Amino acid sequence: VTAEKGGFEYFMLKEIHEQPKAYRDTMLGRIDEQGEKVILPELKLTPDQIMNIRNIQIIGCGTAYHAGLVGRNVIETLVRIPVETDVASEYRYRSPIVSPDTLVIVVSQSGETADTLAALREAKANGAHVLAITNVVGSSIARDADDVIATLAGPEIAVASTKAYTSQLIAFYLLGLYLAEVRGTQTPEAVKEMIQAMQALPEQLDMMLEQSESIKAYAEQISHHEHLFFIGRGLDFAVAQEGSLKLKEISYIHSEAYPAGELKHGTLALIEDGTPVIALVTQESVLEKTVSNIKEVSARGADIMVITYEEHAATLLKSVDQVFVIPKTLPLLSPALAVVSLQLLSYYASLALGNDVDKPRNLAKSVTVE
Ligand code: G6P
Repeated sequence: VTAEKGGFEYFMLKEIHEQPKAYRDTMLGRIDEQGEKVILPELKLTPDQIMNIRNIQIIGCGTAYHAGLVGRNVIETLVRIPVETDVASEYRYRSPIVSPDTLVIVVSQSGETADTLAALREAKANGAHVLAITNVVGSSIARDADDVIATLAGPEIAVASTKAYTSQLIAFYLLGLYLAEVRGTQTPEAVKEMIQAMQALPEQLDMMLEQSESIKAYAEQISHHEHLFFIGRGLDFAVAQEGSLKLKEISYIHSEAYPAGELKHGTLALIEDGTPVIALVTQESVLEKTVSNIKEVSARGADIMVITYEEHAATLLKSVDQVFVIPKTLPLLSPALAVVSLQLLSYYASLALGNDVDKPRNLAKSVTVE
């Protein structure tokens, strides 16, 4: 069994370490040789159809939904098409506005999640073009969709999704760049810069994984707490939501992810002396604002850990207790690195508590009932 796990104690840790490869594999053959353009030969969606897209809806459950939150920001930023995101079990019941000019993107690791499949069928019945981002090409969702972008993460065994999620992010980066090229919304220089930054991600991630010991010590510290908070703005908030879910799934510690600026409208009442708060600070455009939110929780006695870039570490250390540094990348790409520190955090917290990391109580890898 240990051989199956490649020498790792749990599949989850093995899968966390497989992410640099999953990034490379998911990009392979989808970027031209000059590194200037994204090519998605598998797409049936024509340039004409792409020009006509009026709105995009991204649907998924759990971690796949969280990848969609990042996808929304990526597509809106790169392509300037309005994007909505929905949890699949809610989508059908809110009379979504769909037309033949709607692109619906369903995200599913397994391709078998009943809620996501039902949402896909509803969108198709209403005339939308449905594109699936999935890790299983022979799955029900892949079969029913009009288009498929396969994530090449390889089989994911641990219930808590890691490499499938980050490969879904890579798929959204590729798709966003492709749509931007067709619609002419980004300069060739900007596209090239982003491609280069994407190609650097696997190596940057390898560097991060080598430093996982510092996260382990912090995880052991928080494992004794009952509640904690994740805060961030923009893409940092999207990552915070995934970090919070991961921690709940396998450590059973209660946590909430909050948009940093929203805390003062209610949740700040829960912060007391010693409450752990994990703040993500990678989005430079809102950095100052997040820092003032950090000061708000610090003034209430929170014990704060920040995930940020080296260049901000020294300043932030003045107002927080600990800093975990991630390698520098473009704002849109930071989720693909930042989230890995949160995956490690939940893994080591679960391990410290003696839980079965790969098979958390009450949860299933793939949920085929609605
Ligand atoms: C289950 C799993 C989650 C997963 C969700 C969606 O609840 O426990 O980890 O995110 O299903 O799965 P999918 O295969 O559709 O991505």
